[in-house]
Amino acid sequence: MAADTTTYDPVTTSDLSSAYRSTHAELQAWVDEVAALTKPASITWIEGTPEEWVRLTDELVEAGTFVRLDETKKPNSFWCASDPTDVARVEDRTFICSVDETDAGPTNNWMAPAEMKKLMTELYDGSMRGRTMYVIPFVMGHLDSAHPMFGVEITDSAYVVASMTVMARVGRQVLDKIEATGASFVPALHSVGAPLEPGQADVPWPCSDTKYIVQFPEERMIWSFGSGYGGNALLGKKCYSLRIASVMGRDEGWLAEHMLILKLTSPEGDVKYVAAAFPSACGKTNLAMVEPTIEGWTVETLGDDIAWMRVGADGRLYAVNPEFGLFGVAPGTGWDTNANAMRTIAQGNSVFTNVALTDDGDIWWEGMTEDAPAHLTDWKGRDWTPESEELSSHPNSRFCTPIRQCPILAPEYDDPNGVPIDAILFGGRRKTTIPLVTEARDWTHGTFMGATLSSETTAAATGAVGVVRRDPMAMLPFIGYDAGDYFSHWISMAKNNDESKFPKVFYVNWFRRDEDGGFLWPGFGENSRVLKYVVERIEGKVDAVETPIGLVPAAGALDTDGLDVSDEQLAKALAVDVDEWKAEIPQINEWFEKFGDKLPAVLWTELDALKARLEA
Ligand code: GDP
Ligand code: PGA
Ligand code: MN
Repeated sequence: MAADTTTYDPVTTSDLSSAYRSTHAELQAWVDEVAALTKPASITWIEGTPEEWVRLTDELVEAGTFVRLDETKKPNSFWCASDPTDVARVEDRTFICSVDETDAGPTNNWMAPAEMKKLMTELYDGSMRGRTMYVIPFVMGHLDSAHPMFGVEITDSAYVVASMTVMARVGRQVLDKIEATGASFVPALHSVGAPLEPGQADVPWPCSDTKYIVQFPEERMIWSFGSGYGGNALLGKKCYSLRIASVMGRDEGWLAEHMLILKLTSPEGDVKYVAAAFPSACGKTNLAMVEPTIEGWTVETLGDDIAWMRVGADGRLYAVNPEFGLFGVAPGTGWDTNANAMRTIAQGNSVFTNVALTDDGDIWWEGMTEDAPAHLTDWKGRDWTPESEELSSHPNSRFCTPIRQCPILAPEYDDPNGVPIDAILFGGRRKTTIPLVTEARDWTHGTFMGATLSSETTAAATGAVGVVRRDPMAMLPFIGYDAGDYFSHWISMAKNNDESKFPKVFYVNWFRRDEDGGFLWPGFGENSRVLKYVVERIEGKVDAVETPIGLVPAAGALDTDGLDVSDEQLAKALAVDVDEWKAEIPQINEWFEKFGDKLPAVLWTELDALKARLEA
């Protein structure tokens, strides 16, 4: 911790002396240091056992944070409502505290590390008073991988412990390996920032109005304060596996990306692996578990949010999902849109946050069923009926559920080496301009597509919803360094390796609208038609047509057999509208100018070529 900035009060830790003491000197020293600073009432090291889960969830029920759901409907599952102000990632409170400001780049908030440490050390001082401090040893990716990616989260939130237990591999086995190998780990400190004075009653969802989500990239360290929400508090996820890991990837020659991973098998039994980057709440979880509507094709899931990709000995790009659970957007998830997610949560062992509670001890949200139940308790704890004006569930309400329960989990999920990726899809939420599917000519053009990716903002982050912004590779809030350097890293990945073995890149948009605001493309299961097209393009089985923006399906190349969409509507979904694209150019230009010298010159060349083709 901040050894260079502050000295801590010498506090007596005698009441904490019963806590486990690690043989890993650095880990134990850090735990002692955090305890001395935050002054918790007790310390618990997380073992990851079923007994511990029962104890923890019982305590959460007792505290009023959790409501146990009916065992016959959702076994071992819990409903939870957050503070209404603590419902999403807080991008304006998220910082990359690199030593040099330039290394954070123009897309991140920055503060000098020493200054941030001083400020947050004051916030952490006594912040765990009256609470239990939990120490969670975790590993992102497989414990048996060649270089296990360890972390230890210290938190004063039992909700975070329960959620981390679902989302990452945690506990005794992980700690044993850290200790046995003397491995280094990412220290990840989290406090809800709501100390309890003696006799003070707790609230179901403690949090603070002051929030900081901070990454120290050079030290590979995370400090989070004030929020209990997933992306802000489950520090193995976005903070480690994307922000810190992207910096590790830059330094070590690999990629940490905001991508789902799926396995697609054709009727002939040919297997392809696809990774896809869509911004938060733009369809990753849904596509990862999609049920194809086309005969004979199957999809299996490997990951729904994060992919770590390294070049293998054969020159191909191999992806692993570092997570152990699914943290999915609840609204819109139903038997007709994402049946596999419904089957996953039906097995229980899940936490549901900010959804509605039914009178018979189950959960409900908008889009789960066509008709809403006659009466619910909404996410704010109020009576709700279909006549109510507000939604029953927060738009960013979530299910947190073990990925192992996914009925279509691919067996390769357990392979620490991952799977070789054949295609990368970039996609966003755009009402106009972006066609259903466009193919990049090569890796550089694919990097240009990713670098200029745009999407309408969603409820997954606080702030306005529906505003178009550039979201490069769906990583805008997650690149742990200068985004210009990140684009260079993408370009160099193919340059330093054999590009011919790299995945083909496609740009998709499920969210284009007609004049009346309706979706032009039915999406969900029908997206399998686009997956099939992608595979058939890779295999050279179907034709594409050159357009100014890239290759689009030739007539008949996209399988529309049995698709309930008129030819006119389909044409609109696929159309490349030169005028709409011309209007896009100044925005891309402005976006690129942000990066000054750091923008790879080849991306300017791509933009110039695009302009020229649009003018031709
Ligand atoms: P993630 O945060 O990227 O994993 O996004 P999700 O898969 O959880 O989806 C976010 C929201 O987009 C949910 O409300 C989904 O129902 C909706 N969604 C996902 N896929 C599609 C699609 O193909 N078409 C439409 N119209 N909506 C979709
Ligand atoms: P997602 O991320 O919306 O990409 O699933 C979860 C989060 O923002 O915490
Ligand atoms: Mn998701």
